[in-house]
Amino acid sequence: MPILRSSSPQLIEQLETPCALVDLDRLAHNLDRMAAYCVLHGLALRPHVKTHKSPRIAAEQMRLGATGLTCATPRELEVMSETCTDLLLAHPPVGAAKLRRVLALDHDVRLTVAIDSIEAVEPMAEAADAQGREVDVYVEVDVGMRRVGVGTPDEAVGIARRVRALPPLRYRGITFYPGHVRQHLTRQDEALARLRDDLALWLSALGSAGLPPEVVSGGSTPAAWRMHEVTGVTEVRPGTYVYNDRATAEVGACGWEDCALTVLATVISTAVPGQAVVDAGSKALGREPLPAGEEAGYGILLDRPDVRVVRMSEEHGILDLRGSDWQPRVGDVVRIVPNHVCIVVHLNDVIHGVRGVVVESSWPVSARGRVPGVPLSG
Ligand SMILES: Cc1ncc(COP(=O)(O)O)c(C=O)c1O
Repeated sequence: MPILRSSSPQLIEQLETPCALVDLDRLAHNLDRMAAYCVLHGLALRPHVKTHKSPRIAAEQMRLGATGLTCATPRELEVMSETCTDLLLAHPPVGAAKLRRVLALDHDVRLTVAIDSIEAVEPMAEAADAQGREVDVYVEVDVGMRRVGVGTPDEAVGIARRVRALPPLRYRGITFYPGHVRQHLTRQDEALARLRDDLALWLSALGSAGLPPEVVSGGSTPAAWRMHEVTGVTEVRPGTYVYNDRATAEVGACGWEDCALTVLATVISTAVPGQAVVDAGSKALGREPLPAGEEAGYGILLDRPDVRVVRMSEEHGILDLRGSDWQPRVGDVVRIVPNHVCIVVHLNDVIHGVRGVVVESSWPVSARGRVPGVPLSG
């Protein structure tokens, strides 16, 4: 993937730890695999940028056929508007300050927002009117996660009707996030069958009301590989698939060999028997539990899956050596696959792209944080 190469390589061992490494071959494979899946099944791919927050990777996703990008924050929208002119804000845009910021995006950007309340529709229409721009709307429906999204087809029809009645807004379809489908891929049959049946009810109600959705947007990484089985879905928004992580590997949505991002850390102490301490704690790995709970730890060594991070302070990670014959020494360097990659990216200013032991390029996580504006480099 030439776009991620730079001319001045250095070695991994020259990097200060903790830091985030991305295996460029694995990244390229992950990007290709999802692009190919979507082409095969005729699904539009609108990846969520919250995982990488980096225009370079967004540009690669677009080059590989993504039809647009999904964002969660105004900052992500601003940064990604430099790379893509079709952006979805998949997070309810509520509050005057946020609305002003979102609607100030370059007018060349086709902006779509996901909304689940009349209370959000009306100010959005007013703000869009004031800015003289059109805004597309997906009505967000809840298909089982119980986070956001209206709970009944009647409510969806009500919101879609209101959107239709407010001209700066354009009703385009519906969106859902199947965050509750977190079973192993081979055990998703029941959840996907329910999703298929529920979706049929939503689509029928909207169709009968004269509001058939042009777009039905769904999909997470754990459910992505089987989204073609859910009749009616036209678009998917996976994010985590670019880097993958321990949680994704555990549900079979990627192989261990597809985990592209690791946290490089140095053993700083072996003083306490049965453990080694690395310089990556919760401020490098995040404190994200697996579904199995805290017992499962917070990360696992890439090359030694028998060694887990079992405890953390902010800048200390405790590796449990009791199930391993590994005898680390102070100064040894390890690579940790985090439980949840998105939070790790968010904790870093820069990502280092590696092939083997060579750091081929480094790029900023430009869309992290909430400060307005587009950074100079990206
Ligand atoms: C609305 C929405 N769409 C898409 C995604 C991407 O899902 P995943 O992280 O499983 O790839 C997320 C993740 O949080 C999300 O909240």
